[in-house]
Amino acid sequence: MGKTGLQLSVLSYGSWVTFHKQVDDSLADRLMGMAYDAGINFFDNAEVYARGESEKLMGRVLKKKNWDRTSYTVSSKAFFGWRGPDNKPNQTGLSRKHLMEACHEALDRLQVDYLDLFFCHRPDKNVPIEEVVWTMNILLQQGKILYWGTSEWGAAEIMEAHRVAAQNHLIGPSVEQPQYNLLERDKVEYEYYMIYKTVGLGTTIWSPLASGLLTGKYNDGIPEGSRFALQGFDWLREQWMVEDKLAKVRKLGDFAKQLAVSQASLAIAWCLANPHVTTAILGATREEQLRENLKALEVLPLLTPEVMQQIDDIMQTRPRQREY
Ligand SMILES: NC(=O)c1ccc[n+]([C@@H]2O[C@H](COP(=O)([O-])OP(=O)(O)OC[C@H]3O[C@@H](n4cnc5c(N)ncnc54)[C@H](OP(=O)(O)O)[C@@H]3O)[C@@H](O)[C@H]2O)c1
Repeated sequence: MGKTGLQLSVLSYGSWVTFHKQVDDSLADRLMGMAYDAGINFFDNAEVYARGESEKLMGRVLKKKNWDRTSYTVSSKAFFGWRGPDNKPNQTGLSRKHLMEACHEALDRLQVDYLDLFFCHRPDKNVPIEEVVWTMNILLQQGKILYWGTSEWGAAEIMEAHRVAAQNHLIGPSVEQPQYNLLERDKVEYEYYMIYKTVGLGTTIWSPLASGLLTGKYNDGIPEGSRFALQGFDWLREQWMVEDKLAKVRKLGDFAKQLAVSQASLAIAWCLANPHVTTAILGATREEQLRENLKALEVLPLLTPEVMQQIDDIMQTRPRQREY
């Protein structure tokens, strides 16, 4: 992972939207089991997912599976709090108080002694960066977390954290969790470019399928039971169900057929082709989905420079000043 010594599997599995809402204990047990058996060693979570219920569910599965704790990694993220509209001022954000308390709560809910990765889920303009860097280093020293990172921070914010860390002989953020997929490329391909070269940065990228849009499942409307049909996710549907994006996804589907691969596995493999992606976090509500998505590893060798160029021509989303 970036310049660290940590080895993450190229595919990982996360629980946003799905755990508790769409996936119950028995299905989570099967999905996590399938992921682990396929070599996935990173499970992603956050305090805010299903208001803490996602961590509790994952914790129950981990306890039941009783896998060797050294064989997998698990994360949490703090910032949004888990009480929704009832969050009080110190129950969100990146203050020392909230980061410490969120870490302790995540350890309880996940039923683990330490988090392998702990993320600042968003930047917090109300907290001095010194407080964040020191708090993360205290948690590291206490052995409650092993690596710390950021999610959706700007390049300047990440570098500010590194400046403070270097000045104080502390450990800076070693991993960022950005969105990355065929429709959202700028941060990973352009904004972070210098950071990969200088201090080093691993990435655990999210929504490799743009919440499912890139599978082609929404080409002719919204299937019942799918993410965009869920109550409370209108904002997500409105963000993705846009004609211009759907038109590109349809064309990508035709191209996947020519390659004789599934559109989902092609879209995920495309993320993995970027050398700055440490791991792509998969989401799946069914075993068939996970099985299909794991095939991305077989599709990856098909992505020659010519194929990548054809995908760029279809999607037209390549950042103008792409540098890798
Ligand atoms: N740091 C952050 O801010 C942040 C934000 C978002 C996510 N994340 C992390 O990234 C993980 C993955 O994100 P994501 O869930 O948005 O990933 P995604 O791969 O873009 O979307 C996953 C969803 O697409 C549908 N899907 C997946 N495979 C499919 C297939 N083969 N055929 C048809 N439908 C399929 C499923 O939803 P339905 O079956 O419900 O349609 C599934 O839950 C999350 O679990 C979380 O750990 C982090």
